[in-house]
Amino acid sequence: MPQSPKTDARIWTDVTLLTMATGDAPYGLIEEGAIVAKEGRIVWLGQATDLPTAYCDGEKISCDGHFMTPGLIDCHTHLVFGGSRVAEFEQRLTGVSYEEIARQGGGILSTVRATRDADEISLKASATKRLRQLQRSGVTTVEIKSGYGLDLDNELKMLRVARALGENPAIDVFTTFLGAHAVPPEFKGDADGYMDLVCGEMLTAVVRENLADAVDAFCENIAFSPDQVARLFTKARKAGLPVKLHAEQLTNSGGAKLAARYQALSADHLEHLDEEGVKQMAAAGMVAVLLPGAFYTLREEKLPPMELLRKYQVPIAVASDSNPGSSPVLSLALMINMASTVFRLTPEEALAGVTRCAAQALGLQDRGQLVVGLKADFALWDISHPAELAYQVGGTLCTSVVKDGRVILTG
Ligand code: NIG
Ligand code: FE
Repeated sequence: MPQSPKTDARIWTDVTLLTMATGDAPYGLIEEGAIVAKEGRIVWLGQATDLPTAYCDGEKISCDGHFMTPGLIDCHTHLVFGGSRVAEFEQRLTGVSYEEIARQGGGILSTVRATRDADEISLKASATKRLRQLQRSGVTTVEIKSGYGLDLDNELKMLRVARALGENPAIDVFTTFLGAHAVPPEFKGDADGYMDLVCGEMLTAVVRENLADAVDAFCENIAFSPDQVARLFTKARKAGLPVKLHAEQLTNSGGAKLAARYQALSADHLEHLDEEGVKQMAAAGMVAVLLPGAFYTLREEKLPPMELLRKYQVPIAVASDSNPGSSPVLSLALMINMASTVFRLTPEEALAGVTRCAAQALGLQDRGQLVVGLKADFALWDISHPAELAYQVGGTLCTSVVKDGRVILTG
């Protein structure tokens, strides 16, 4: 029997809404608000006094005066991996650089060894623990990359684990094929040969099994050149997959410009991005994904070109880059703080970076703002001013998470 609109609507009241919708007041702030969800979507929001009578009988949830934002979106993670890199962290504290460790066969390749040794069950179990931490920080959508398998079976294994994590109704998982993350030991000195495998057999299998929503690569002198990445992107676009790129993290390799040629969703990291790269990203409608956790962990000194990104109106997303080497981060809320304190984003820009702009970085139009018709994915926060989300360092301000209109985490 069809349900009446009254019975299945759920109404959150006694709440300040930060809608993050474009063109509205700062943060899209609505005081003394209410928001109504039905069948997983937002059907109404506004001031509580204007709540339509049709919804007055729905199930009411009081938010005790807390603030509500769209559910946070972590648009760049490497959450599935085996092993640990804590020893490498200690090595870096003695002055050995991330690049030196990578060149010595450690870094990404040490995680590749541990990931190849792990089965799907243990990879899923360890990633689930990390994912829970991210969810507690308000995350309702997460992107997860492969890239620690670096051969056919192990890349597919990682992507299957990521897809399996997305079967949990409490979180949406967007999967990215990052076979071109590093050159594996069996292809040492033959990046072109490895790229043939990535563009050929690996990409074909990923597409056939529908395991990826996008294709990524690491464009850097310790990984792949723009020409090598171009070969992969040509094949990916032909196969109907959008692309994105780890670009200008350690040096200016021209990755962002290359990504713009393929209308990439985003270029990520970007500390060494130049003005020409910014212009081309703007012209291609790309998003700049900034990763303050990696900048902080690697003690980088060169800031991404914030002023240029603003000048050319490139949308700025912020993500955790959660991974065992350069960014062992398990809180996207902490990235709001670091984006402001370390990268000097305004608190409003930082919040847009983990909501509206992060959705854009994944090409998702159905989330990232509190707007009628979009998904009812919410995070509730025990704060009394929006900038507290950026001000607070650590701790847990998130008091409740709602996914597709259902409360999935409280307290
Ligand atoms: O986004 N830059 C390349 N890839 C990851 C690091 C992965 C690792 O060190 O394991 C990043 O920072
Ligand atoms: Fe990354």
